[in-house]
Amino acid sequence: MNSSEQLQQIIATKIQHSEKQRITFAEFMEVALYHPQFGYYSTPDSIIGPQGDFVTSPHMGHDFGEVVAEQFADMWVVLGEPDDFTVMEMGAGQGLVAVDAIAHLKTHHPKCFQALSYLIVEKSPALKSEQQKRLAHWQQEGLSITWKTLDEIPSNSLTGCAFSNELVDAFPVHWLELHNQQLQEVWVTYSENGLKAIPGELSTEQLAQYFKRLDIDLATGYPDGYRTEVNLAALDWLIQVDSKLRRGYILTIDYGYTASRYYSLARREGTLQCYYRHSHHNDPFIHVGEQDLTAHVDFTSLEKQGEELGLATLGFTQQGLFLMALGLGDRLQQLSHSTEPNQPVTGQAIQKIMMQREALQQLISPMGLGNFGVLIQGKGLTQTEIARPLKGLTIPPMY
Ligand SMILES: C[S@@+](CC[C@H](N)C(=O)[O-])C[C@H]1O[C@@H](n2cnc3c(N)ncnc32)[C@H](O)[C@@H]1O
Repeated sequence: MNSSEQLQQIIATKIQHSEKQRITFAEFMEVALYHPQFGYYSTPDSIIGPQGDFVTSPHMGHDFGEVVAEQFADMWVVLGEPDDFTVMEMGAGQGLVAVDAIAHLKTHHPKCFQALSYLIVEKSPALKSEQQKRLAHWQQEGLSITWKTLDEIPSNSLTGCAFSNELVDAFPVHWLELHNQQLQEVWVTYSENGLKAIPGELSTEQLAQYFKRLDIDLATGYPDGYRTEVNLAALDWLIQVDSKLRRGYILTIDYGYTASRYYSLARREGTLQCYYRHSHHNDPFIHVGEQDLTAHVDFTSLEKQGEELGLATLGFTQQGLFLMALGLGDRLQQLSHSTEPNQPVTGQAIQKIMMQREALQQLISPMGLGNFGVLIQGKGLTQTEIARPLKGLTIPPMY
């Protein structure tokens, strides 16, 4: 049996041992992505990046991590330049943002770098060991870099920024369907034909409450068969992150929208996507453990959850605007002027500039990564600190 077949067997056994021979889609997704031996994120093979199944912003070059570091430095200043400033990166993938951000802070914001501790929360053992290799030289240089689970971090202990890029879209989601104007949950069963989705009752009252809090009534006006997802794990995650932060920011970047766009009538198939070797489709029951499963983020629920916890919503913007406000536009301009007029340039140099320009354009493209949501929440800030606009949330210069 190959590892995908072994994983399917594990899921089948879990289903057989469950009370009604079915598990929620969220339970299925948790095992498919994070089973310690055969889960998608547990495989030692390179799954993220050009050789893997999908690419993320840091694969577009060093600029993403460097520009995000500008936001970290700005946060450090607003917090009054504390002697201890922690960037806690959750779901750090291959550690690309970490290396680029750290290097940028050392060169361009040495005082902030002096105060910096970098803390990584990473669920995948394979990616954690890749991060440790990539960051080893910074540890040797004396920078404090540690890996912890959220549970291991003492409450109210961090001053700094809790950062994630494409973490929340990797949390297991509940899959829902509307049948005869009743909200139902999609459960996963197993037969000799393999894994199969069947509708049933909601597994938890929290799902109905989720929509109540958003003031959305799917039972009225939505078409029969309407499919969507709910990310309850994201709400629990925010509670935990909030509890670790004493003072500072939560910066969340991800695919996603406000609730009104997420749960719009038009999005009748939901946002669940499967990524396998750079192509995407919507069958989660094939390539089990060999393909990424992801659903977009409902940023309104993260905002509301934060506000109930006492967090200040400082702003929600798009990645394109965020990066431009932090200096990506200047980088694009510099590229245009990186060759002297009337001086001979090699074809190789031109090609390099074109490729860099293309990568920067991808980071801000409204049709792609530039359309990602960026949410910044604040904890323990004074009114003056709240009123001071963060650099990434200011209106970017237009070129
Ligand atoms: C889609 S990847 C994004 C990686 C990286 N941030 C990037 O932009 O390239 C999702 C990352 O989140 C990690 N992850 C998923 N659930 C997690 C959790 N509950 N705690 C910590 N890391 C988690 C995965 O192992 C992986 O590193």
